[in-house]
Amino acid sequence: MFPWKSTLIIDSLASRAKYLQLTDQLIKEISAGRLVPGQKIPGTRQLAGLLNVNRKTVIMAFEELQAQGWLDIKSSSGTYVSMKLPITNAKSISSSNIPYDNFNIRLINNYDFIPSYESISSASINIDGGSPDYRLAPIDWLYKECRSLSKSNYGQRLLAYGGVKGNEELRISLAKYLGETRGMILSKENILITRGSQMGIFLTMSGLLKPSNNVVFGSTSYDAAEWAALNSQANIIRVNVDQNGIDTDHLASICMQQKVHMVYVTPHHHFPTTVTLSNERRIHLLQLSLKYKFVILEDDYDYDFHYASNPILPLASLNAGGNVIYIGSFSKIFAPNVRVGYLVANEEVIENLSRLRRIIDRQGDQIMQRVIAESITSGELNRHLKKSLNVYRHRRDSFSKMIDSEISDYATYKMPEGGMAIWCEFKGLKLEELKPIINSRGLYMDIDPDLSMRFNALRLGFASINEKEQKKAFEILGPAVKQLASSTSS
Ligand SMILES: Cc1ncc(COP(=O)(O)O)c(C=O)c1O
Repeated sequence: MFPWKSTLIIDSLASRAKYLQLTDQLIKEISAGRLVPGQKIPGTRQLAGLLNVNRKTVIMAFEELQAQGWLDIKSSSGTYVSMKLPITNAKSISSSNIPYDNFNIRLINNYDFIPSYESISSASINIDGGSPDYRLAPIDWLYKECRSLSKSNYGQRLLAYGGVKGNEELRISLAKYLGETRGMILSKENILITRGSQMGIFLTMSGLLKPSNNVVFGSTSYDAAEWAALNSQANIIRVNVDQNGIDTDHLASICMQQKVHMVYVTPHHHFPTTVTLSNERRIHLLQLSLKYKFVILEDDYDYDFHYASNPILPLASLNAGGNVIYIGSFSKIFAPNVRVGYLVANEEVIENLSRLRRIIDRQGDQIMQRVIAESITSGELNRHLKKSLNVYRHRRDSFSKMIDSEISDYATYKMPEGGMAIWCEFKGLKLEELKPIINSRGLYMDIDPDLSMRFNALRLGFASINEKEQKKAFEILGPAVKQLASSTSS
């Protein structure tokens, strides 16, 4: 007897209609050979009862499956798996032990160095690792601009195949903007538009590194950048990080011992600890790069969010030898789903990396890129930045007060000068043990297994939740931390 009840699971919270969920699952069972041609399917009333769904749902699924040729509905005797289907003995993907068993290829890499992402229930309160609040994005303005493009011939032309380096207006306005805001001297020929910083990191590492090249990362660092290096089969070398960012004296001693090909840095602000790379070290790093001929990959994801003073100019603005490849993004400024970022480098590198980009992505979203160009020239970008900087500064301050009042006996941190997260080190409890407790109470925190194991620390993102939400989060976090700490000490 086929286990209908345990095999066919209908999720009443899913966005896909129930009858389509049932359709999908029956197709899966037939394709996998677990339901065979000629096999009788329970009647609509019986199946609806077994699955605890309305009978209409089952009727609609059967009709859909009949229309697609999977089922035969015979008014006299019932519903059967179609006899016209070939008998398959296919194993389901999950039950096959050897991946790609039937192909002449094997996985080159199983990417097990990249964790799979948990999806967070929208019902939970989420303290993320430092994301912007997408609710602040000027969505009306963005869409109004998209709409006004639709009315012009020019706007419609953006739907066609375009240049791989990105929208021309954006490259021109960005070159001017980066000059005005970051002191970078450049033209559009130095800019390649990417889908966010991550693509820039990937292109740089894939295009410039050979297997066994040495790439230096901080002792703490941005994992997704390390994945790009690992994907290029480069060696990762660690340099110490302290209150002033990566320790360039340590880097100098590494360079004396071995050839360094690339150094990845997040000067504003070091990921994950949020410290700013000091001016002195910036100059030292540039000198080392000229002396030892390594590329600096400057990931300036956080430049626009500096609360204490004006941000320090990027390394790329002092890029005398052209050794710095600079990466920026609009993900933090507008919203993560606005997949527009940019890579700044000398023309030869831009030309090369744009050809590499052509392989994985023919072009970016020309319309959104054009709208972002408009946000720069019209001043909307600056208005939005000013507003969000203010909001985030207040959120940082309220969040830090809550750490002080709720968990200060167990957590230490230094107020970050910028960014969207507070780097918090825990004592008297293990972060990994905290996770199931808070999850069960509806609070999700971005507890990186590696960072929590090595430092018992994590980034507490304050920017994406308002004060009311922060309060709710601490109503769960505070008692959970105290409970765990007292059970740990006893
Ligand atoms: C240090 C760092 N670099 C790059 C990125 C990727 O940003 P994007 O959304 O622009 O790809 C992030 C995202 O959080 C980040 O933290």
